Amino acid sequence: MHQRMYRKRTHKNVSKSIDRPLHNPQKIAVLTSGGDAPGMNACLRAIVRSAIFHKAEVMGIQNGYDGLIRGDGIELNLRSVGNIIQRGGTFLRSSRSKNFRTKEGRRRAYENLKKWGVDSLITLGGDGTLTGAEIFSREFPIRVIGIPCTIDNDLFGTDLAIGFDTAVNTAVECIDKIRDTADSHGRVFVVEVMGRNTGHLALETALAVGAEFVVVPEVPLKLKSLISKIQAGIDRGKAGSIIILAERDRPGEAIKLSESIRKSIKRDVRAAILGHLQRGGSPSSIDRNLGSRLGAHAVELLLLKKKNRRMVGVECGHLTDVGISEVMGKRHSVDIAKLKLVDQLSI
Ligand code: F6P
Repeated sequence: MHQRMYRKRTHKNVSKSIDRPLHNPQKIAVLTSGGDAPGMNACLRAIVRSAIFHKAEVMGIQNGYDGLIRGDGIELNLRSVGNIIQRGGTFLRSSRSKNFRTKEGRRRAYENLKKWGVDSLITLGGDGTLTGAEIFSREFPIRVIGIPCTIDNDLFGTDLAIGFDTAVNTAVECIDKIRDTADSHGRVFVVEVMGRNTGHLALETALAVGAEFVVVPEVPLKLKSLISKIQAGIDRGKAGSIIILAERDRPGEAIKLSESIRKSIKRDVRAAILGHLQRGGSPSSIDRNLGSRLGAHAVELLLLKKKNRRMVGVECGHLTDVGISEVMGKRHSVDIAKLKLVDQLSI
């Protein structure tokens, strides 16, 4: 009899803890900021579902830090993130906020979080997003976790950022098509890819398309050696040539470079700027899975390990986290061996 009563009570307790919300569930806010990156939606899905799995609530902030300042928050549930894993962009929308750089902007953002009963924030974005999160969390009692999302893959502290793999695949698909025309017409193409001040996107793409030359911001361009390499290829019977150029600060350098090459080579030289074509599109399986893993990891760091001011990442395939302050001001450096390999394999 005694045993039966005990069993009954245990059963009742278990069902209570599963069905009934905790008295004071923790509430996490999440936002996407800076340039959108394919895989952000997969990551948001993982954050919302993992948080709910761990009995927390999630507020989605629309339009990045600007939305946080304006109070654009929506409650997210399991269904809010259904059927988005395969979509590019970010369903929460994004912005590059000037107002969040001001103390007044950040104070208003904090007031909104306080009003919603939120004490922690997950941010998806690049270095500007992380810097904002770090400053914010030092000024106000909000715990922050950053998730690296940028097609530039320039963040220190992770081998891979969400969006990079898809952007490389998009660029490769476009350049394979340009190669058809280059070979058919015997042309030289200078193809400009994104990446801001780092050459990861350019380098990874160049190796994958078998480019004749790659120009990255990390290594000064030697125009003479570029021209003699292209000329030597033509002399050996190469039909077309592809030069991949990383955009640097100002897009459009491909036009100038193609003009400089045209002066020295008796071939038709054209420029193609891939631009924002590389940012959107359905994420690759690598970005979907990275987004899912990093999203769930961020939630666990917040809810179970009570961590603060960390950026999640991957190193050699393993999930990691690193202090945001260690990431700021540093760059994920390009692999110079890959640069040499592009050169070696394009003879
Ligand atoms: O950081 C991602 C990125 O796509 C860079 O490669 C590029 O320089 C920049 O964003 C372009 O930003 P925007 O879309 O704001 O012009």
